[in-house]
Parts: sequence; structure tokens; C-alpha cells
Amino acid sequence: MPKTTTPTEWSPQTWRNVKATHQPIYPDAVALQSALDELASLPPLVTSWEVESLTNQLAEAQQGERFLLQGGDCAETFQECRSHVIASKLKILLQMSLVLTHGGGLPVIRVGRFAGQYAKPRSDDHETRDGVTLPAYRGDLVNASEFTASARAPQPDRMIQAHARSAITLNFIRSLIDGGFADLHHPEYWDLDFVQHSPLRDEYRRMTREIGQSLRFLETLSGAPVHEMRRVDFFASHEGLLLPHEAAQTRQVPHKTGWWDLSTHLPWIGYRTAIPGDAHVEFFRGIRNPVGVKVGPATTPQRLLDLLTLLNPSDQPGKIVLIHRFGAHAIAASLPPLIDAVQKSRRRVLWTCDPMHGNTDTVRIGKGQETGTLVKTRKFDHILAEVEQAFEIHKSKSSVLGGVHFELTGEEVTECTGGARGLSDDGLMAAYRSPVDPRLNYEQALEMALLITRRLGG
Ligand code: PEP
Ligand code: CO
Repeated sequence: MPKTTTPTEWSPQTWRNVKATHQPIYPDAVALQSALDELASLPPLVTSWEVESLTNQLAEAQQGERFLLQGGDCAETFQECRSHVIASKLKILLQMSLVLTHGGGLPVIRVGRFAGQYAKPRSDDHETRDGVTLPAYRGDLVNASEFTASARAPQPDRMIQAHARSAITLNFIRSLIDGGFADLHHPEYWDLDFVQHSPLRDEYRRMTREIGQSLRFLETLSGAPVHEMRRVDFFASHEGLLLPHEAAQTRQVPHKTGWWDLSTHLPWIGYRTAIPGDAHVEFFRGIRNPVGVKVGPATTPQRLLDLLTLLNPSDQPGKIVLIHRFGAHAIAASLPPLIDAVQKSRRRVLWTCDPMHGNTDTVRIGKGQETGTLVKTRKFDHILAEVEQAFEIHKSKSSVLGGVHFELTGEEVTECTGGARGLSDDGLMAAYRSPVDPRLNYEQALEMALLITRRLGG
């Protein structure tokens, strides 16, 4: 077991005593402290009641009684904090959850990668173009993506801007939901323009008709409208990467014990930073929120057990969401030993599958081999193959795959290839907008949910 401080020694700042990776170096310490002080004094983005409610739902998912759908952008940007982008993202997540609920017969917990998904881990601290080397782009929370020295310098004030944009995003989402946007009596409201042209239109329409009929049947039986159906829950999540930023928003609340990271409901620890004894694990072991942990090829069974012991020593229900991301080629060999280890330890976790991050390819498109542009993409079939194998592997071990995690958008982008429309590498540049990883577009995401539903037995 790696050496770490004991629980009583924890504070939101103890992570500073151990090794922290993927952190920018801010040139102006005074400006940094003043931004952190301001962040700590602003009202939080979420409340401890909401966080507790999510923990309870995740505990039910761990029992196989709910299914988790987590999805959204790889990286949100300040620029894309726009009403139609947010509404489309909400729509696709609602539609997917509707399809998954219908197919799996389980209530779906909806968690967006939004309202704070502004920080990115990078494989290199620097980027070189035409002989010029600058700091890497680490997400809008830290710096700007333009390739100039001033844009790439870490700016503490961006944390305040991100807080405001996250609040605007959450406010809009809450208002849409309160206004009946997600009313299951009218799933036809959620149709996006281009569902008209989708090859899956008929299947989706049939499903929404059936849901409408079931609702009316329930209402006839009970003699009253099914009010709960007018309101759906939506939770926010982001990678808790920039530790000073998370720490500044971690507070104690009246009448409750412990510390709450009120910048989001469900922070997760990225694959590169989920290392026992390092700063991210030290920070996240002290908060009361549920915590997601990315699990990949380098996660040995022993490392996973160490992470579980550190992050959830009392084995609290609903606390840990494991998000495995191996790639379609590697999951069959890598996942079973981890399931065995967790089963042997009898620890409670929610297993979910991120079929995106192990399936990233780089292709060269346009012009000749040497002169074309390098583009990151993912194949729809690889993504689907990883999810399908994940269901199979868990089932074969009497374990449960209790959720899925996607990078997606409600926009008609061209970032992943394949799907019903058969997007090819040559079509990638038509609408490639992600600043970091490629996302499923609206149609691909809906198709993915329909195909997973078949797998769930619907
Ligand atoms: C991500 O979720 O965007 C990400 C960087 O994933 P991972 O930590 O699994 O590589
Ligand atoms: Co990503």
C-alpha cells in the first residue's frame, strides 16, 4: 500500500504535499491566489443535497437497479457555451436515456460531461510547430488553444470565467427541465431537425410511440397524471484535473459532516492521474461526493484495490464509479482480472464502460501521405465492439455493467467514422470541431443507444 496521510490529516490542501502531475505552472502567484480566493467566496455550482441524491442513485445502480448514462464533450469550450449547443446536448442525452430505459427496463441516471469539463490532461507539456515551442493547450480552464505565447500562458482568471460559464450552463439546463423540456409525455419535442433524415427514424419513432402509450396506460390505471415523468434529474460531472480549482470549491456545509466539492456532482479522476499516493487520489479521498475513476491498461489489480481502499475505506455504497477504457482490442484480456480482484475483495463499485478513449486512431487525410493533416478519430464499430464485449465479459463473470460513458455532441459534427451513414475518413473535415478528442455526433449517439438497447434485451 503506498504511503499517504491518514484520514484525520486530510484537508483540501494536503494534496500539495505529494506529487501532482498535469498541473500548469502559473507565472503570477499573486494573481493565482486572488482568483482562488474569489472562487472560494462565490456561491457553489451544486448543493450537497443534490450530491447525496446522486450517491443514493449510484448505490441503486450498484445493485443493478439503475443504469448510468454519462456523456458530453471531451472538452467544453467557452466559445461553445451557446443555447443551441447546450439544448442539443441535453436532447441527445435525454433521447439516449429514453431509449436505454425502454430497452433495459431500468431507470437511467443522466450525468453530463458538462458545466465544468474545461480541463484536459495532455501527453506532452509542450507543443512544437514549425520550430516554435509553446506550452500545450490544457483546456479553456487553463489557457487558450491558439498557438501564440500569450494564448498559451496559463491565466488564473480563466477559473472565474469557467465558473461563470458553468453556472450559465447549469442555469439553462435547470430552466429547460423545469419548463417541461424533458416531459416524457412529449418525447416528440426532442426531435432534432435531422432525425427526419436518419435511417433510424422509424425505430426511434416506434419507441417514442410505445413510451407514450405506456404512460397513458399508467395514467388510466392510477387515474392521475404521472407527474414524476415531467421532471427528470440531470447531474453534472467533469474530470477533476486542476487541483487548486477543485480545492477552492471544496467546502463544509451546515448540519453535515465532511467536505464537499461543490463544483460538480460527480468529479472523476482521469486515467493518467489515478495513481495511489499521488495528488489527485490524495485530494479525492477526502471529499464526500461520489468519485469516478478511469481504469485502463496500466491499472493492475493491485493498483485498483489500492485505489478503492484509499478512496472508499469504509466501502460506502454509491461512492465509486469505475469507468473502464481499454479499447476494443484490449478489453478481453485486461478487464477480467480486474473484475476478479474486485469480486474477491467484495468491495462495492459501479462498473461502467467508456468505449471512446481506448479506441482513438490518428489518420492522415488530404493530399499525399507526408503532406496531409493528422486528425484524431474513432471508428463507430470499434466503439460498439468495446461496449458489446464489456456487457459479455461482465455477464460471464456474474458481474454487472451498470453504465456507459461517451464523448458525444448533439451537433452534426464529423469526428468519428462509420455509423448508419457510413462516414469515411475523407468526410472528417466537413465539420470537425472538437478541440481535443472526436465525439459521436447526434445520429451516431442515438444509433449507439439503439444498438446497446438491443444488447440489453429490448
Ligand atoms: C477524457 O475522459 O476525456 C479523458 C482524457 O479520458 P482518460 O482519462 O480515460 O484518458
Ligand atoms: Co476525451
